Amino acid sequence: MGQALALTLNVGCFHHPGGDGAESGDAVVEQRELVGELAFSRAQPLLRGDGGGAQGGTIGGIDASVERVVDRAQVLLGLRDRRRSLGQRRGLRRLRLRNTLFSDALNHASLIDGARLSRADVQIYPHGDTDALSAMLDASDADVKLIVSDTVFSMDGDVAPLAALLALAERHSAWLVLDDAHGFGVLGPQGRGAIAQAALRSPNLISIGTLGKAAGVSGAFVVAHATVIEWLVQRARPYIFTTASTPAAAYAVSASLKIIGGDEGEARRTHLRALIERTRAMLKATPWIPVDSHTAVQPLIIGANDAALDMAGALDRAGLWVPAIRPPTVPVGTSRLRVSLSAAHSHDDLDRLEAGLRACAGGTQ
Ligand SMILES: Cc1ncc(COP(=O)(O)O)c(C=O)c1O
Repeated sequence: MGQALALTLNVGCFHHPGGDGAESGDAVVEQRELVGELAFSRAQPLLRGDGGGAQGGTIGGIDASVERVVDRAQVLLGLRDRRRSLGQRRGLRRLRLRNTLFSDALNHASLIDGARLSRADVQIYPHGDTDALSAMLDASDADVKLIVSDTVFSMDGDVAPLAALLALAERHSAWLVLDDAHGFGVLGPQGRGAIAQAALRSPNLISIGTLGKAAGVSGAFVVAHATVIEWLVQRARPYIFTTASTPAAAYAVSASLKIIGGDEGEARRTHLRALIERTRAMLKATPWIPVDSHTAVQPLIIGANDAALDMAGALDRAGLWVPAIRPPTVPVGTSRLRVSLSAAHSHDDLDRLEAGLRACAGGTQ
């Protein structure tokens, strides 16, 4: 395993803001201050902490601060863990109508699991292929249609055709569920994410963000029309029946949100964009196949499993942790090294990566 100086920290991960040992009371005060600061907001945030749906606990302002960053109508926040987003997806199964879920072929495993748990009919459309999706929607007579997609694909780094997906959703009176795990905090104005970057707004849109990547904590949130949020609060069992998250986590998230939405976040995103452009050029110059990604996820397709593992091993011995991603996570024959950039990386780090890749390329000649 490489040294701590890893080139594969969390994708686009801003440094965890780092708690200062604040006591619970400080965290709550912090949240109240945020409520005041955001009082002008259009939002009617749910002033709840994790599990507050069941227990009436309030950690005011967290929701409002997320709302400020994502700029949407209403926010449901679960701070605890990834069960939150799973729960929201699972809650969608309860409609008791004929449901069909249309899922991008390269969606993240958590969306795939959510689709399976939903017990809806699942139709998988080829990656990013809105023509194929359109034909499937035309042919469907389901009562409820959900289109589900990552925004930034976690293994390829490309961005889904968000505007075209929303246009299809609206034309077919379908829901569009977008997982912005890798967009939130990194893309769009103030790091509001890929959906804000594409300037999309619609009552048909349900967006999910995680707080474990750019925000550096854990948990997830859903942003959607108020009716959808209310329905999830009433029906999403993993949300309802979970212990509230800790004030420490709430404090850390609110500190992260301040960084993401402020000048420091902007500076980190500018730095990250420079790293991304440099990495694109670097990967293009190798004998392997880079994916055309403009995000922090920069894969290099090696092909065979063994070759990808050998390269990851060689880089590891050089002190660089660049994981080899293999089937079944990615299609057979497309094993890859996944470089995941973070604003915490430096150009010196990229010098080292460049040298490591050059050494690997030398070994293949
Ligand atoms: C697209 C996508 N969605 C959801 C998740 C789950 O995120 P978390 O672990 O923060 O719940 C991930 C994590 O890798 C992801 O890549």
